[in-house]
Parts: sequence; C-alpha cells; structure tokens
Amino acid sequence: MADNMDPKYVWVDGKMRPWNEATIHMSQVGTGGVSSVFEGIRAYWNADRKKLYVFRLDAHLERFAQSIRLMRMTQKTSNAEIKRGLVELVRANEYKEDTYIRPLAFIESALFGSAPGDVARIVINTTPWASRLKSGKVNHACVSSWSRIADNVMPPRVKASANYLNSRLASEEARRNGYDSALFLNSNGKVSEGPGACLMIVRAGKLITPSVTSGILESITRETLIELCRNVLGIEVVEREMDRTELYVAQEAFMCGTGAEITPIVSVDRLPVGTGEMGPITKRIESIYHDLVRGIDPQCPEWRTEV
Ligand SMILES: Cc1ncc(COP(=O)(O)O)c(C=O)c1O
Repeated sequence: MADNMDPKYVWVDGKMRPWNEATIHMSQVGTGGVSSVFEGIRAYWNADRKKLYVFRLDAHLERFAQSIRLMRMTQKTSNAEIKRGLVELVRANEYKEDTYIRPLAFIESALFGSAPGDVARIVINTTPWASRLKSGKVNHACVSSWSRIADNVMPPRVKASANYLNSRLASEEARRNGYDSALFLNSNGKVSEGPGACLMIVRAGKLITPSVTSGILESITRETLIELCRNVLGIEVVEREMDRTELYVAQEAFMCGTGAEITPIVSVDRLPVGTGEMGPITKRIESIYHDLVRGIDPQCPEWRTEV
C-alpha cells in the first residue's frame, strides 16, 4: 500500500494497471459519469486468521451485470473474469485491513446517454475502509423533503452513479438541518429507503422493510438480513409498503447496506425511536452480521470469498 491510501493497482478492462496509469481524458468526465453504474463491495479482515474475506461477491457481480443490462450496455467481460480480476487486484494491493471495492462500468463516448449495444468499459478500484460494526455508532434521521426517484424516471433498482444526485440532495439537506441521515418517501408517499442504504424497523417483535417495489435499490445486505432473520435468528420479516407514521411508532429502526452495515436509527424527526438507543433485535442482528462477514462464524461460507 502507498502511504497516501492510493492502491498500487487498478483493474481496467481485464488488466491490472498501475494507479497512475489508469487515466481517462478529461472530456469524458461528464459523459462517462452519467452513463456509469457501479457496485460497492466490502472485504473484511480477520485478524486471527490473517485472512481477508470479500462479502457476497457473487451477488454484487450479478447486480452489476443487471445494472449494465438495464442501461443497455454490452458487457464483454464475464462475471467469472471480473471475479478473478477483482480477487487478484485486492491481493496485489496487499490489504491487511477492511477494504472497499468498487467495480464501475461506463461508456466512453462524446455523447450524453448511451446508444444500444455500447460496450461497457469496466474499472475496479479499491481503498481501505474500516468497518463500524459494534462501534456504537447511531444515527438521528429525518424524513426528507426530497422524494425518492421512481422506477419509470430513474430506476433505483439500477445502481447508477446518476441516481446519487437524488441521494446527495437528501443527505446534504439532512446534515444542514442537524441530522445524520435522511429517509426518503417515494412518489406514492410511502417510506422507501435512505440515500445509500435500506431501512428496517421493528414493530411488535417483527422486522418490517419496504418491499422491492417501493423505489429502493435491491440491497444485498437487506436480502442477507432477511435470510438470516428467517433461517437463523427466528425473527419474522415482513416486506411491504411502509407508512411514514410507522417510523414514529417503531420500537427499533436501522439502516442496512454494504457501506452503512447495520446503523441504528435512534430518532426520526426528533422523536426517539423506542428507548432512543440501539434496540435488542438490532443488536442481535448486528452481532451475527459482524461475525459472519469476518468469518468468525463459519455459517454461510458461500457468502465469503477468501482473497
Ligand atoms: C441507495 C442505496 N440503497 C441501498 C443500498 C444497500 O445496498 P447493498 O446492501 O447491496 O449495499 C445502497 C448501497 O449500499 C444504496 O446506495
């Protein structure tokens, strides 16, 4: 690792390239950015075993391919090749700490938008990013005055860089008003998700989360937690429309996502959620998630790719 956190290598269209050589012409900044779709993947360092585990890599690469397809780009590099390249890259960058991995696909073009059949260029970048699981971090949230983008406008199901304009507006507003994070309502006035994570609440001992047709990114963490709650923890999970006022009467609430991991929401619009602290169900979920992602708990080995 270089001192300044820049990795030694970046993976570009099938080849590992030194960081300083992985460049693109400045004229591509706008058009490349608008066309781009990406993934955010975490790898967790297990200090006892001295091993790095990439979490849910196959699921992330499947969603990456889905985003490329939905944007009508052509993916010339197979997911198997990307997976091999990604593991080689992380290994070559010699991480011995929690790491964030970002595959990105974009069109190199002078035009905004893309023509059908455009071949996606694919880049993978890596950076250290320490987990905040079990750190005691909590969030105070507000319901945003911005609505979540809709499936027939800018589909949140696509992990498109351009969608994060909507996220940025909501996050900036939340912080300006003294909150840590925002919660979006969708165009039907129902609760959707946060700017960069999905939402789960607890009511009467059940976990409730907005359905995948609520204007959310189909989160891999959300799917992981649903499976763990149902099959391992014995907690009932309901996926359905969620009213705004349910946020004000929930016993517990938390954001979930690769970046957010499990982040308890302890107030919404200044009303405490439950006791105003991380709740017991959230704690159980955080604990099992922490142990699984780091490979401390040997269950679900198919979710961890060893580097
Ligand atoms: C808008 C949005 N929703 C949800 C998520 C969570 O998705 P995942 O669990 O696949 O990381 C993310 C990214 O982390 C996101 O950017």
